[in-house]
Amino acid sequence: MFFVLDGVDGAGKSTQLEMFVQWLGEQGHDVVTCSDPGSTELGEQIRSILLGKHETPISMRAEMMLFTTARTQLIQQIIKPALARGQTIVLDRYIFSTVVYQGHAGDLDPDEIWTTNRIATENHLPDATFILDVPVDIAMARLGKTLDRMESRGNEYFERVRSGFLLESQRWPDTVDVIDATRPPAEIQSDIRRLAVQYIERRASK
Ligand code: TYD
Repeated sequence: MFFVLDGVDGAGKSTQLEMFVQWLGEQGHDVVTCSDPGSTELGEQIRSILLGKHETPISMRAEMMLFTTARTQLIQQIIKPALARGQTIVLDRYIFSTVVYQGHAGDLDPDEIWTTNRIATENHLPDATFILDVPVDIAMARLGKTLDRMESRGNEYFERVRSGFLLESQRWPDTVDVIDATRPPAEIQSDIRRLAVQYIERRASK
């Protein structure tokens, strides 16, 4: 199984991911957890270029390609071999983030990003993507004081990010679920687990 958690910064993704991974382990899954971008040496180097505060100009198209390149390495080095071993992947962000942050919010063509990413990942798409949704003012209030390069883009950008996630998820009704993340963490987690069970059963019956 290949699960992705995604959503606007400050939606509470890390907490939910940790609870989900622990539960999957208790259910007998051999779980591999990764962050995108990151989780490989190359991915971590690209991540520091993308998220570090520096003065080097990076165009939106170059930014899109950098996120995508980190993802190619992650697929080749970790995800593809793990899936071949029958392990369960839980990934913190994936293609959806690029389509939304650099596409819907960053003004690149979302379909072009999908095409680029299908090539970059050899078409490895997740079985399920859970989008944690919160209004931008709540999300921003949850972020710490030190913002990274992406988090510093301001509320208008993040409004486009949030609506991009909502719009894009409507295109994938069979594999993407939007979860109201303004509720208590335990409630959010029980939705994720209930949906995950459905996806696991669906996969088993194929
Ligand atoms: P995130 O994964 O949320 O890590 P942390 O919790 O350590 O901040 O941060 C990654 C940032 O990069 C986040 O602002 C979303 C952004 N991003 C993109 O703009 N495009 C992408 O393709 C990906 C994967 C992330």
